[in-house]
Amino acid sequence: MAAIVNVNGRVSDQEHAVISVFDHGFLYGEGVYETLRTYNGQSFLFDRHMRRLRTSSAMLALPVPLDDAEIARRFRDTMHAAGLGEGPDREAYIRILITRGVGELSYDPAACPTSSVVVIVKPHVAPPREVFEKGVTVALVPIVRNHPGSVNPLIKSNNLLNNALAMQEAFRRGGYEGVMRNYRGELAECTQSNLFVVKNGVALTPTIESGLLPGITREFLFEVGADVGISVRDAVLRDEDLFGADEAFLTSTTREVVPIVQVDDRKIGSGRPGPVTQALLEGLRRKAQALTRTPQPTGKST
Ligand SMILES: Cc1ncc(COP(=O)(O)O)c(C=O)c1O
Repeated sequence: MAAIVNVNGRVSDQEHAVISVFDHGFLYGEGVYETLRTYNGQSFLFDRHMRRLRTSSAMLALPVPLDDAEIARRFRDTMHAAGLGEGPDREAYIRILITRGVGELSYDPAACPTSSVVVIVKPHVAPPREVFEKGVTVALVPIVRNHPGSVNPLIKSNNLLNNALAMQEAFRRGGYEGVMRNYRGELAECTQSNLFVVKNGVALTPTIESGLLPGITREFLFEVGADVGISVRDAVLRDEDLFGADEAFLTSTTREVVPIVQVDDRKIGSGRPGPVTQALLEGLRRKAQALTRTPQPTGKST
């Protein structure tokens, strides 16, 4: 099914969703975004996504012209128009983008008095079952993750060239994802997900100081780990930690926990999804269901 789009409050099908070429989001890549999904029709971890959206936009001095209640309302309106978020097998993918808005060709933010707000809703499509059952091969790519002193990876920016170039390289090598290092050569994250390795029963993920997007799923997994009795911690990680791991996996909102069984031509651990990865995936799904089982009038889970 095609997407339904809300552009500055106006809902339309994707063919009629338009934005000016003078929007600085288009001209200069000035904008931020969030990707959410629903469980049981509720925007999962809505409050955390809104916090990160506002942190990202503040780093660009980009005003978010709506409060959380109005954003939740736009999500509901757009989902309703798409016939999603209402009942089983109707889970939604939701992307919100805030851009600088329309203005003269100038880097001066004053040129754009009003930010643009776009909400894209389409059916949530989970990775195929075999991705979870067999695991995936990823590529360790030479494209370096943005230096935090340049375009800080803390910003969930619409300007995704760093990620796109790394993923192009991963595609060329037949990878499901691309793993990136930071400018110091330490492991950072994947192009669209966070990276974890498992050693001696402990799940480790690069520290925020390694220069990465603080994934909502990454953070949630610390809590899932506490629930299921698996230690989940952050640490500075290097290539040898990945190649010498017992297990590895990646996390994101839309992919949950995906086992990594091979990096380029090297097997990780047994070459099959491992028990720690499995327990964390199941724990995440259980917790997501538990948090969304009771319908919320706001249509969002916190
Ligand atoms: C670069 C990057 N890292 C990590 C993630 C995972 O973040 P989250 O768990 O909030 O979806 C994403 C998601 O799009 C991403 O683009």
